Amino acid sequence: MGQPAADAQVTGVCYLNGEFLLLEEARIPVLDRGFIYGDGVYEVIPVYGRRPYRLPGHLARLRRSLDAVQIANPHDDGQWAHLFDELVARQATDDQSLYLQVTRGVAKRDHAFPKGVAPTVFMMSNPLALPTREQVQEGVRAVTATDNRWYRCDVKSTSLLANVLLRQFAVDQGAAESVLLRNGFLTEGSASNVFVVKNGRVATPAMSHLLLPGITWEAIAELALRHGMPFEQRDVSEAEVREADELWLASSTREVLAITTLDGRPVGTGRPGPMFERMYGLFQSDKRQPAPPARHA
Ligand code: PDD
Repeated sequence: MGQPAADAQVTGVCYLNGEFLLLEEARIPVLDRGFIYGDGVYEVIPVYGRRPYRLPGHLARLRRSLDAVQIANPHDDGQWAHLFDELVARQATDDQSLYLQVTRGVAKRDHAFPKGVAPTVFMMSNPLALPTREQVQEGVRAVTATDNRWYRCDVKSTSLLANVLLRQFAVDQGAAESVLLRNGFLTEGSASNVFVVKNGRVATPAMSHLLLPGITWEAIAELALRHGMPFEQRDVSEAEVREADELWLASSTREVLAITTLDGRPVGTGRPGPMFERMYGLFQSDKRQPAPPARHA
């Protein structure tokens, strides 16, 4: 066995099936279906000042993902919230990125669901590594790629091989993200949602089975509407992506960032635009506010 890479997270208190323990001591059986098949779902929840951001939205999405893959939710919302508080309290930093995963559990390898198996529940929380000041002020590079994923991208599944390859495709070209196109239309990023701005109007693909309903996306949509920014959920063509004045990406770990170079060409002026700056400011104040009530799908 080799040593873990220097940047591998191997310390800190995590949670596994009812127990809080050190990450380096946590073990799952090799026949866990999460390991064998990627048969599980997950959430990434940003934690600001030890408070999970937009928790009801994350819990609602978790319920939808579990329902979609027919894994019984091992906890109700109150129990989840309590477990998150316990885990967050055990970490050193105030701002964290909480990861949780539920798999179908441990069983003899067979594609069909096993009977009477308890799901595996794993959680960890790492210091929140937000984009650097330079990334916020200068924007980031992105490349376009063909969206070659399955037709249930609305499920936050741990089966992420396509997303992993698409992100690496970007990294190999010195870019931070792949902007995915399917049949000539924008879907999302390899691990983010994407927005285009043209003539002062923000547009983003409407939610469907082709993309993940991002909680940051939802926050941005809500902030745009609340603050009178023209905002549309609709099909966005590849041409609109290439001719945008501004492009943004959004996720729980990157908040909202301007894409200032796409496929080596400048987006708009090649600098983060005024609409981005406004939304970035709105998001910064929103993330410190109490969470809005849950919206059930
Ligand atoms: N990913 N689309 C995809 C494919 C994603 O993987 C993510 C987030 C998003 C944005 O969702 P949210 O705003 O709820 O983070 C959209 C997380 C951060 C991850 O896999 O690490």
